[in-house]
Amino acid sequence: MSIQAPAALFDHDAVRRAVDATLAAYMNDQIRTAHHRGLPREPLHALSEFLGSGGKRIRPVLCVAGWQAGGGIGTPEPVLRAAASLEMFHASVLVHDDIIDASDTRRGHPTVHRQAGTAAAILIGDLALILADDLLHGAGLAPEQLTSVLRVANRLRIDTIYGQYLDLAHSGRPPADVAPAMAIVHHKTAKYTVEGPLLLGAALAGADPAVSGLLHAYGIPIGEAFQLRDDLLGIFGNPHETGKPALDDLREGKATVLMALALQQADPDQLHTLRRYVGDPKLTSAQAEQVRAVLVDTGARTAVENMIEQRRHSALSTLSTADLPAHIITALHSQAFSATARTT
Ligand code: IPE
Ligand code: IPE
Ligand code: MG
Ligand code: MG
Repeated sequence: MSIQAPAALFDHDAVRRAVDATLAAYMNDQIRTAHHRGLPREPLHALSEFLGSGGKRIRPVLCVAGWQAGGGIGTPEPVLRAAASLEMFHASVLVHDDIIDASDTRRGHPTVHRQAGTAAAILIGDLALILADDLLHGAGLAPEQLTSVLRVANRLRIDTIYGQYLDLAHSGRPPADVAPAMAIVHHKTAKYTVEGPLLLGAALAGADPAVSGLLHAYGIPIGEAFQLRDDLLGIFGNPHETGKPALDDLREGKATVLMALALQQADPDQLHTLRRYVGDPKLTSAQAEQVRAVLVDTGARTAVENMIEQRRHSALSTLSTADLPAHIITALHSQAFSATARTT
C-alpha cells in the first residue's frame, strides 16, 4: 500500500489515509490473533475504536516528511509502518493522559477510561505502547536502520514521559515562573510531536547530520508553538471543535506559560481570582469565565499569541535558507501554519 507520489509533491492527505489503512490492517491482524488464542477482544476493540476516532495524524505525517527530507523517496511500506508506530504510541500517551488529567472527552467522544473504566484503560494504554514497539520492530526495516531509529524513538518516548511527569509535578498551584512551563512544553510536545517525528523519519533515511540539524531548528519552535496553541485552545477553544473539555486545564491547575504570564502581570484583585479558582476541581463555568477575563485583561493571552508568532517566524526563516527538497520546504511551510493556527 505504499504511495508513489511524484517527488515534487508531498500529499498530506494521502499519507494520512495510508497511515490509517496501515493501523487498521495491523489492528485487524491483532484482533484475529487474539481471537485464535482465545483472548478477550474488548481491549483491542477499544483501542481500535480510539485509533479510528479522528486525530490530526501530525506525527506520522511529519515522520514521512522527515524521511523525504533526508533523501527518502515516496512512502515505502516499512516507512509507513514506522510512522504508524508513532500514532500507536500517541494513542498510549493520550489514553493515559486522559486518566492523569481526569478528562471526560477526547476527539469528541467519551475518553477510554470513561468508557472502559480506569483500570482497563491503564491496560489498554499499556497494550498500545507494546503494539507501537511491535509495529516498529516488525516494520521490515534493515538492521542498521532499526538500530538508529530505535535510538531516536526511545529518546522521543523518554522525553514524552518526563514532559508528562514535569506537567503533573507542577499542576495544582501553577507557578508564576515561565521557565518550568516552557520545560514542560519543550519535552511534552516540542520534542514529542514535531522534532522527534521529523528526526525519526530522517533516521530512517540515514540522513546527513546537516538535515537533522535543520529539522531540529524547524521542529523545536513549531513544536513549542503547537503546545502554546493547545494551551490557549484548552481554555478559550470551542469544545465542539477541539473535542476536549474546556474546564479541565483550569480545574487541574495546569502549569502553562499562559498562566505563568497572567500570574506575573495580575493586580491584587486579579491575583485573588487566579489563586482562588485555578486548581479547584469543582470550578464552575461562571468561575472559569472570570479566570478567562483575567487571562485576557492581564495581556497573557496576547503575549502567548505573540510567542506563537515568534516561533513560527523563526521556523519559517530556517526554512527560507534550508537546503532541503523543494516539496519538503513547501510541506513544512504549510505545517508551520496548520500546527500553530489550528482550532482543533
Ligand atoms: C494532543 O495531540 C496532545 C498534545 C500534544 C497537545 P494532538 O493535538 O496531536 O491530538 P490528536 O491526535 O489530533 O487528537
Ligand atoms: C497531552 O498533553 C499529552 C502530551 C502532550 C504528551 P495535554 O494534557 O497537555 O494535552 P490535551 O489537551 O489533553 O490533549
Ligand atoms: Mg490532557
Ligand atoms: Mg496532560
